[in-house]
Amino acid sequence: MNMESSEETLRKLSLEAEQCRRCPLWTTRRRVVFGEGPVNSVAMMIGEAPGREEDLTGRPFVGKSGRLLTEMMESAGISRSEVYITSLLKCRPPNNRNPMASEIKMCAYFLDEQLRVINPSIILPLGKFASENMFLKFGLSLMPISRAHGKPFEISRGKVIIPLYHPAVVAYNPNMRGVLEKDLLFVSKIIKDKKAGL
Ligand code: URA
Repeated sequence: MNMESSEETLRKLSLEAEQCRRCPLWTTRRRVVFGEGPVNSVAMMIGEAPGREEDLTGRPFVGKSGRLLTEMMESAGISRSEVYITSLLKCRPPNNRNPMASEIKMCAYFLDEQLRVINPSIILPLGKFASENMFLKFGLSLMPISRAHGKPFEISRGKVIIPLYHPAVVAYNPNMRGVLEKDLLFVSKIIKDKKAGL
């Protein structure tokens, strides 16, 4: 598939998401938050679900957690613009409640397509929900994020999942900042290695 047709596929998919009524979240959403970033990204971050500011703007990770994430990525040497960023759910759950299993299942159509088209070498699920979901999708045994974070799990030749803590954890508990910083530094190195063809 060439770059143009991948971009076109993603564009059509995002238009489809904007019309989506697969689960009841369409009744309370303001904007669909499909995701953003280059179609040829080496790394893809997958959060949980849009929050208030994402729902208002239609962009992923632009609220408090998102600003913290962006700041921490940049200081680890990862440019936000080089990573594709999305979430398990494309619509905000009311009052930021946890995503329901049925919503994750119905929304997986979009994430599966994003993963297929972008085909990232490095999948970065943020937090427990996204990590468990990616582990199940790729047939890995589940393990708590407290054990899995910052470690590369190979899912096929040259392709890894590296679970990370969700930045909301750091926003609530500043003591966790150092842990996420260290993991992002590791991710930064892996991204650079992949780009250098190592
Ligand atoms: N948290 C997420 O998991 N995704 C967003 O887009 C924003 C906050």
